[in-house]
Amino acid sequence: MYCTRNISESVIWVGGCDRRLALFENLFPVPRGVAYNSYLILDEKTALIDTVDSSISRQFLENVLYSLGGRTLDYLVINHMEPDHCANIEELLHRFPALKIVGNAKTHTFIRQFYDTDIQGRTITVQDNDTLCLGQHTLQFCFTPMVHWPEVMMTYEQKERILFSADAFGSFGALNGNIFNDEVDFDRDWLADARRYYGNIVGKYGPQVQTALKKAAEKEIQTICPLHGPIWRSNLGYLLEKYNRWSLYEPEEHTVTFLYGSMYGDTENAVNILATEMAKAGIKNIVAHDMSSTHVSTLIGEVFRCSHLVLASPTYNNGIYPAMLNFLHDMKALNLQNRTIGLVQNGSWAPSSAKQMRALLDEMKNMQILEPVVTIQSSLKESSLEQLFSLKDSLLASLQ
Ligand code: FEO
Repeated sequence: MYCTRNISESVIWVGGCDRRLALFENLFPVPRGVAYNSYLILDEKTALIDTVDSSISRQFLENVLYSLGGRTLDYLVINHMEPDHCANIEELLHRFPALKIVGNAKTHTFIRQFYDTDIQGRTITVQDNDTLCLGQHTLQFCFTPMVHWPEVMMTYEQKERILFSADAFGSFGALNGNIFNDEVDFDRDWLADARRYYGNIVGKYGPQVQTALKKAAEKEIQTICPLHGPIWRSNLGYLLEKYNRWSLYEPEEHTVTFLYGSMYGDTENAVNILATEMAKAGIKNIVAHDMSSTHVSTLIGEVFRCSHLVLASPTYNNGIYPAMLNFLHDMKALNLQNRTIGLVQNGSWAPSSAKQMRALLDEMKNMQILEPVVTIQSSLKESSLEQLFSLKDSLLASLQ
């Protein structure tokens, strides 16, 4: 049975949600599920903006067919060719023999790479800023490559001032009937997942997001319709400010997050003492994460939130504790930068994880390492406590 909502009289949300998926991209846990948004515009011509993941094809097709009310589908605009959005192209081509796929040259290349259906004569190739008139509504295509694949474009509907923004401005999390930002408590229920989504999916492409934001700023926008998560019809400045900050790799909060590995609780003990001292000094919103039980995508989200990091790692096989090593590789791959970092190492006979963490951080942009590096030999003693308090002073001075 269909399950749709109107965004306006002529624009209908025909997407759906998957609450069964364990790992988005087979990488990222989505305990709150994920939404795949798709939008139908009804005018003299009908146009669908993107499709959905194959996991919800049945719901999606019921939504589209119901919303069309017996009409045909004239255009399918493909803003993004990643399979979580394009899994239903072939099905629609078969169901609507006159359907034209609207995309750019790269879009059509990807369609041919992913699928075997012959799209000869079924495509309209657009250039940046081209328009397509549907009657009262006019679509304008705005190329935003690498947000998050090279073929990505956004589609701006001029009459209702809707920006169909592809992956940008999206979030992990299934929609629960409330599909609009003003129907949910975004800060409480969505911000952490939106940040985690941004950081892990789009975070590497900060400069390209900046370019996209500048292009968006040239348009008068009333509604932002992303491919995942809530639709924004109010308070757009809040969301744009978050994206501007994240894509500049500027932290949201002046605070510290502790990211630690601890085999027997001794490194964790140092983290707890340092966090407590920081709290006593007035620092708020401190969060400590055990890297062995916290998914790396959450840790990456924390880097986007916090100005300061304390990385605490045992020495393991003469190297960095595996969970920490994995996190540092992810940080580098995602182009993270501009953070201030304290290092804590533990090692019973040859502590060396801090030196190796520093070497990896030195390969990233503008990572400032605070002194001193704290060395624990097996468990915290008075001698290393002094170092820990010195690091606290350095962190506090830096947070001033
Ligand atoms: Fe939601 Fe880049 O796909």
